[in-house]
Amino acid sequence: MNHYFTNSNLKSNIQKKEVIIKEKKYIFETDIGVFSKKGLDFGTRTLLENLDLNNIKGDVLDFGCGYGPIGIFVKDNTESNVDMVDINKRSLHLAEKNAKNSNVTVNIFESNIYSNITKKYDFIITNPPIRVGKQILYEILFKAKEYLNKNGELWLVISKDQGAKSLVSDLEKEYIVNVVAKNKGFYIIRALNH
Ligand SMILES: C[S@@+](CC[C@H](N)C(=O)[O-])C[C@H]1O[C@@H](n2cnc3c(N)ncnc32)[C@H](O)[C@@H]1O
Repeated sequence: MNHYFTNSNLKSNIQKKEVIIKEKKYIFETDIGVFSKKGLDFGTRTLLENLDLNNIKGDVLDFGCGYGPIGIFVKDNTESNVDMVDINKRSLHLAEKNAKNSNVTVNIFESNIYSNITKKYDFIITNPPIRVGKQILYEILFKAKEYLNKNGELWLVISKDQGAKSLVSDLEKEYIVNVVAKNKGFYIIRALNH
């Protein structure tokens, strides 16, 4: 868990990964100490491939952006304003570089959960951190309501092994929930703030 919070004294080994998402090519730099340094995570890919891009507009938050694949892909493929946050400084630095290299303009800043979030969004999209534990995971997913406009949508990916089924029934207490897709145990969940 340490690597999410303190990685300034970790060794660095920046690698360029070519990633194709929905027939579009991106080059993402990854590094030791950031999530999925070997390239695009399968859960993230499944989430991106199942987003309803035609419907995404307005203000979007990529929560826990890592090296940036979600926010960069969404900005590149929709008419929206994209903010991207993470607690991990190395991730934020890579996300900045990757956004610049992908020719997208996004707003990237540090936030511990929602500590530095000051506005409401139409979409919050996340491959959330799991190893932070259930309490923080639930804080991220349920507090999201406070940062969503009415009829705003929280989109997330979580695997069956990580508790997707019970999460769906918990989310149903606060949101209108659809499981948009399932692929190899990964659930893509849309939770509407009604
Ligand atoms: C599963 S990774 C997803 C990274 C990236 N979005 C992707 O799909 O490759 C979750 C991210 O949440 C970040 N994170 C963990 N705890 C956080 C917190 N308290 N506040 C903000 N971000 C956090 C981690 O640093 C990590 O980058």
